[in-house]
Amino acid sequence: MSTAAAKSFRSARTADFTESVIREMSRLAVAHGAVNLAQGFPDFAAPLDLKQAAIDAINADHNQYPITWGTKPFRDAIARKYARTYDLTADPQTEITVCCGATEGMIASLLAVCDPGDEVVVFEPFYENYHPDTMLCGATRKLVTLYAPDWTFDPAELRAAFSPRTKAIIINTPNNPTGKVFNLQELTFIAELCQEFDALAITDEIYEHITFDGEKHIPIMTLPGMRDRSILINSMSKTFSVTGWRVGWVLASPDLTNSIRKVHDFLTVGAATPLQQAGVMALDQHDDYFNGLSAEYSGRRTAAISMLEGAGFRCFNPHGAYYVMTDISAFGAKNDVAFARHLVENIGVAAVPGSSFYSRPELGANQLRFCFCKKFETLQAAGERLARLGRG
Ligand SMILES: Cc1ncc(COP(=O)(O)O)c(C=O)c1O
Repeated sequence: MSTAAAKSFRSARTADFTESVIREMSRLAVAHGAVNLAQGFPDFAAPLDLKQAAIDAINADHNQYPITWGTKPFRDAIARKYARTYDLTADPQTEITVCCGATEGMIASLLAVCDPGDEVVVFEPFYENYHPDTMLCGATRKLVTLYAPDWTFDPAELRAAFSPRTKAIIINTPNNPTGKVFNLQELTFIAELCQEFDALAITDEIYEHITFDGEKHIPIMTLPGMRDRSILINSMSKTFSVTGWRVGWVLASPDLTNSIRKVHDFLTVGAATPLQQAGVMALDQHDDYFNGLSAEYSGRRTAAISMLEGAGFRCFNPHGAYYVMTDISAFGAKNDVAFARHLVENIGVAAVPGSSFYSRPELGANQLRFCFCKKFETLQAAGERLARLGRG
């Protein structure tokens, strides 16, 4: 046995990676028997007809490797859905790549377009994956603040974040964790910057059908000059309550798609064949299903906000997605992490510390994020537990 000092086999690229706080909170929730309002997955059933379609696909032996960039019927269904919903035409042969969730869609896209030294603009607070994603590509993140309570950005700050080195901006709308839905004016401003600085817009649109208060989701790809300058990422996870299926897709011009497909092929080969088959039925269904999601989640949002406000949290009202960011100042806790631990260990509710959405922990030290993609009885159980919280 060697007596030499232990050598680290870890790559420099991953040295700064931390464990996902969100998934850690989920684990703690299980360990402490807490109600899990941390990780964004539904605890209610996925649509029955969708599950049946998956079972049928397995029984019909759609069980082998798919074409790496997605089965033809599923890519066709994706194209039909975008044509119907946004009048957005995408060629299934050359412009659509099916991948393992939006997660793979984002890293495959960034790896396909970024070289070390490139800059990627990201709004803060951010969905936590975007940081490791940019690090894996050797790109540098340029952060632009979304200011509470409305999570608006300062156009001058956004402009200052762009430079000749900017390769892309990542836009997540409707937004996790803030619930912001970027409006036409904001998207137009971003689109103009992308054109001025010859940069791409990479959009994470997985909450597209969960919007409230009359807000409507707009894919930046549909704005003038943005069709070939955007990479649109989406997935079945949130729209169909199947976060474990790991089926997503990327829309991009043929040139970009060509690179994205190569990365995707070597990363994962393909997303599960029978679940793509079930996805055809899912995407082709009547628009009532998609329109109904907002109404459905609106009720859960009301229930979540009322139980959180009742327990003393200040809520930032979300206009989309299924999270509520809250201000925890009233509780006089040391910081968000200590308070989240107290909640999960002693009160029995798991939430995500605000600092996990910021580059510097102090920026999120007074915030916690709760998700409301849960049964009403789950939200009620969380409310009963949170009512035990003492303030300040
Ligand atoms: C903004 C955002 N993007 C991507 C994902 C993951 O998507 P998928 O399950 O399609 O990989 C999540 C999951 O919570 C998310 O909130």
